[in-house]
Amino acid sequence: MRVQVLRLGHRVKRDKRVSTHVCLVARAFGAEKIVFEGEIEKKIKEKVKDVCERFGGGFSIEETSSAQKYMREMRENGFAVVHLTMYGIPLTKVLGELRGMNRVLIIVGAEKVPRWVYEEADYNISVTNQPHSEIAALAVFLDRLLRGKEFKMTFKGAKLRIIPSRKGKKVLKI
Ligand SMILES: C[S@@+](CC[C@H](N)C(=O)[O-])C[C@H]1O[C@@H](n2cnc3c(N)ncnc32)[C@H](O)[C@@H]1O
Repeated sequence: MRVQVLRLGHRVKRDKRVSTHVCLVARAFGAEKIVFEGEIEKKIKEKVKDVCERFGGGFSIEETSSAQKYMREMRENGFAVVHLTMYGIPLTKVLGELRGMNRVLIIVGAEKVPRWVYEEADYNISVTNQPHSEIAALAVFLDRLLRGKEFKMTFKGAKLRIIPSRKGKKVLKI
């Protein structure tokens, strides 16, 4: 399954850490790309590129001047558009449908999400109907969607591989 993430409403400086973590979760859970509306800090791009270089994989980070245009383009390309929101249908109710899809574009917000997203998304999906975080919502959504496959993923071209250990830190340099 091809997965992309569209990050809306990133506020420069204020959301730097949260947006970086959204990128890292997207990558670690198998997304191919994250797209931000508007410009983001150079440091976010550098951090994500650094992780990709060291830990491998083909994850990319991009910016678009119009999230709406990007979403519509992706839909034309066969992506189902999933907006994660506490106001949506519980994830558990639509998982069966979603797991049969080949391409999914996941939209996560930061500040108030514009109305068009709720109206144009194919699915408005909640990970509980309580307010929490885009990082948590994305991780739970992808884990359920992929049935835990992220635990077995390997990343091509990695320079470092972690050897899971009960104690201490073991890292293999490749
Ligand atoms: C900190 S919340 C702010 C949401 C904002 N107050 C609004 O009304 O759109 C940021 C993002 O986290 C995600 N999120 C937060 N709680 C969620 C939940 N229970 N289920 C799914 N996504 C959630 C949504 O993508 C949301 O846009």
